[in-house]
Amino acid sequence: MRLRLDTPRLIVRDYTAADLDDVAEILAEPEVFWWVKEPFTRERARLWLEEEIGLAAGDGSGRRAVVLRQSAKVIGGAGLVWRDLDTGRELELGYHLHRDYWGQGFATEAGAACLERARTLGLKRVVSLIYIHNPRSEAVARRLGMTPQGELVWAGLPHRRWAIELGGGWRDGQAGLFGLARGAVESRVRGYRPTVPGERGV
Ligand SMILES: CC(C)(COP(=O)(O)OP(=O)(O)OC[C@H]1O[C@@H](n2cnc3c(N)ncnc32)[C@H](O)[C@@H]1OP(=O)(O)O)[C@@H](O)C(=O)NCCC(=O)NCCS
Repeated sequence: MRLRLDTPRLIVRDYTAADLDDVAEILAEPEVFWWVKEPFTRERARLWLEEEIGLAAGDGSGRRAVVLRQSAKVIGGAGLVWRDLDTGRELELGYHLHRDYWGQGFATEAGAACLERARTLGLKRVVSLIYIHNPRSEAVARRLGMTPQGELVWAGLPHRRWAIELGGGWRDGQAGLFGLARGAVESRVRGYRPTVPGERGV
């Protein structure tokens, strides 16, 4: 495992193929990936999972599994994905939760861990593109300290761009993100310490 972030109630970690049952269950609920109109079949969930695992193994970006410590169940996903926007190449924080786990602060907790990770890596800024009629997602962004910075059309729908400046100087991220080899991170971020001592990656 290359990335593992620990929070009081959650573990945010790389997905594995063994997460398919939990992921398929989460994505089968139409309210979760509400922008996908057709049923989110198990096969589609498998392809989605494969893509996220590929991103993590590639440049280190991509959503990670949000695991409930108490039960070891995957209850959602959260992570940073590169987006080519009018403002340039930006990192977007995305999050979603199993419908049964809304209203308990888990998305905020997982999102905060991802932002802290980005801050540790020395990243400059993170955005979230949020559909203008998605108040729950906006509330998460607000709780994370993000502020609205205008509207844009994204995936054919009106979205608001939320952003947080993290204060780092490293924005282009050509070398990757979450999954950077430790040496690559250490060369950029003074005082960097891995979250879990002894792990291979970040
Ligand atoms: C977006 C999404 C993850 C937000 O879920 P959520 O449960 O509202 O967000 P959180 O997990 O942070 O929980 C916040 C709620 O828990 C409450 N809460 C309880 N304990 C809390 C704690 N320790 N910390 C923070 N909030 C807590 C908050 O008061 C808030 O309650 P409210 O809904 O009554 O206002 C969820 O709606 C979702 O999966 N949507 C579909 C996917 C999606 O749209 N993703 C975003 C795309 S841009």
